[in-house]
Amino acid sequence: MPGQKIQIFDTTLRDGEQVPGCKLVTSEKLELALQLEELGVDIIEAGFPISSPGDFNSVTEIAKLITKATVCALSRAVEKDIEAAGLALKFAKRPRIHTGIGTSDSHIKAKFNATREEILERAIQSVKWARKYTDDIEFYAEDAGRTDNDYLARVVEAVIKAGATVVNIPDTTGYCLPQQYGDKIAYLINNVPNIDKAILSCHCHNDLGLATANSIAGVIAGARQIECTINGLGERAGNTALEEVVMVIKQHKELDLYTDIKAPLLNPISRKVSDIMRMNVQPNKAIVGSNAFSHSSGIHQDGFLKDTTTYEIIAPEEVGADSSKIVLTARSGRSALAFRFQKLNFQFDRNDVDALYQQFLLVADTKKEVEDADLEKMALAHQQNSLATA
Ligand code: KIV
Ligand code: ZN
Repeated sequence: MPGQKIQIFDTTLRDGEQVPGCKLVTSEKLELALQLEELGVDIIEAGFPISSPGDFNSVTEIAKLITKATVCALSRAVEKDIEAAGLALKFAKRPRIHTGIGTSDSHIKAKFNATREEILERAIQSVKWARKYTDDIEFYAEDAGRTDNDYLARVVEAVIKAGATVVNIPDTTGYCLPQQYGDKIAYLINNVPNIDKAILSCHCHNDLGLATANSIAGVIAGARQIECTINGLGERAGNTALEEVVMVIKQHKELDLYTDIKAPLLNPISRKVSDIMRMNVQPNKAIVGSNAFSHSSGIHQDGFLKDTTTYEIIAPEEVGADSSKIVLTARSGRSALAFRFQKLNFQFDRNDVDALYQQFLLVADTKKEVEDADLEKMALAHQQNSLATA
């Protein structure tokens, strides 16, 4: 496998499950955890054990069930949270505690009414508490996207010294531009003296639609873990979509990065998550949307039918999607019409298609999409007409 590995930290069962209407019961979380492991994610964030007895139970059961992936539990920088996370992970083969605190001035003042020095101490203390339960400790500097870089570097250095092996740099509010987020990661790599003892993780929200771009900028700058969810589910406008970052990394070989995700399982798991969470996927969603491999304009259809790579950079089977579709609308052209007639077993020559195309446009102007039944009707009428005039 070429290049450097990017760890995929899936938080569908935690950040994704926070979405209103997406709450899961233990049996549903277990079913998804198994599929995430099969997909090849490196870390499954199973839940937030202190938040409810049900979630404590879910994390406990996932920890027992999962054998290959690391199972992670979230906590605040609060002793009883960390204790709950540690206990819920008791049976995990590879347990990770994810603890942290807000580090931006907005969080320090408005949420904690504290000072930077006090927050630094609480951050260090949280990692020390977590070490009682596991050596795999991830620290999150919440709202790192809006945290002053000098202060952030001090926090990162201190938590690594205290024992954190992964430091999460969340763009909690989805505020950063890709360049800014990448620069932040580069700044930490260049200014934290003990950075070689930990890896940096990207956790980017999508409030400005930049989550995927920011995560990719983060790994280009040297982060080695991406936190993401299936279908980009997550608080507010969502989190980074797993399927997007995985396919960006796979498509852009020049990045010299790879993940262990089995791409053909991306569409099946997307559908499973959508069903269980009762959250539809937008049709134009990259990789897993129902239109991701549909072609409807005449110019695109003509090119696609000559050579699929003219308009598709990924073959649908590569990501487990249904075959590409040629959709007929009033913007479609003759090649697409001829192709669809052929699929319906009608053999028409160029003159036939020319004649049928005019009828097709009349129907197409009255509908969103021309269906097989419309085409059959047109084709049969055309055949009868041809016989009558022969
Ligand atoms: O968005 C965020 O900052 C989070 C943390 C709890 C990691 O979800
Ligand atoms: Zn988040």
